[in-house]
Amino acid sequence: MKKKLLSVILATAMVATMVGCGSATSEPAAAPAAEEAAPAKEAAPAEEVAEEPAAEEASDDLIVVGYAQVGAESDWRTANTESFKTTFTEENGYQLIFDDAQQKQENQIKAIRSFIQQEVDYIVVAPVVETGWETVLEEAKEAGIPVILSDRMMDVSDDSLYECWVGGNFVKEGSDAAAWLKTYLEGQGKGEEEINIVTLQGTIGASAQVGRTDGFASGMQDNWVMLDKQTGEFTQSKGQEVMESFLKKYPDIDVVVCENDNMAFGAIDAIKAAGKTCGPEGDITIISFDAVAAAFDSMIAGDMNADFECNPLHGPRVAEIIQKLQAGESVEKIQYVDEAYFDTSMDVAAIKETRAY
Ligand code: AHR
Repeated sequence: MKKKLLSVILATAMVATMVGCGSATSEPAAAPAAEEAAPAKEAAPAEEVAEEPAAEEASDDLIVVGYAQVGAESDWRTANTESFKTTFTEENGYQLIFDDAQQKQENQIKAIRSFIQQEVDYIVVAPVVETGWETVLEEAKEAGIPVILSDRMMDVSDDSLYECWVGGNFVKEGSDAAAWLKTYLEGQGKGEEEINIVTLQGTIGASAQVGRTDGFASGMQDNWVMLDKQTGEFTQSKGQEVMESFLKKYPDIDVVVCENDNMAFGAIDAIKAAGKTCGPEGDITIISFDAVAAAFDSMIAGDMNADFECNPLHGPRVAEIIQKLQAGESVEKIQYVDEAYFDTSMDVAAIKETRAY
């Protein structure tokens, strides 16, 4: 690998000041979520990793990987960061340069440019939103650095600008959630009733938002009314705030679709504070996405009805892709991971014990 000592020292300082879903169906080597090893240690802050002296002393043999992460907005994101930090270690033959973009695309573009300047071997991006990447990807291509997309997708006219993408099928997650709701309501004898729904959307323009919104819309029934949709930016606090406003505006909400678990936790708090109840025995049905450990607690407590998995353990999958590219092998362009769903008709307490995040 190329020697980058000086540029690493300069650029890590720059990065430090700049920022303040199962196995791949097309790549069957990765293990399902339940079988993957739990993260071994707590994630270090971005600055800590960027300034770590060991990185500056990295040997020429290490593969240098720059990871432009979305942020730290959710439990899912924390598990995803941990998956990269525990995979891309010096012991495993890598030097990881990690950047937390704080949910801002402009920060990710700056990070990618910094990685190019440092002459990293691979750039990995979990893009905040889908559009607006052509220019910086052209710069990476010009520099001869392969770009791997993980988690969310980019919408670019020329797909040769990136090597491949690995992540969850967000559209399927959304349509599975609608299909689940149809079956659930029919089981309750409410298949023909008018059902009032609100949606807490993720960051607008993120493929996790676009896919889940479109997927759920594709399964809407004639007797279902989507009262409102608004972004909660994938965070608990914003999810709670938006749910509070929905509850004031709409007195008869039957179902809340939360496009991630942290917004669901905020919504549940808002519902309880408003004197209402939720979950299988409550007034309001809660559907969520991600299936992180705290969401299992929420189902066990009877607050959440169903959760559609989005697997965050992409570190080993991306490492496998890099190893194939290193060996001169071709990789599948689009790699969806297998994902399940969970609801309170299952033994969610037992299932939680088998999970890695
Ligand atoms: O892109 C994956 C989504 O991003 C997860 O659902 C969410 O929790 C995270 O913020």
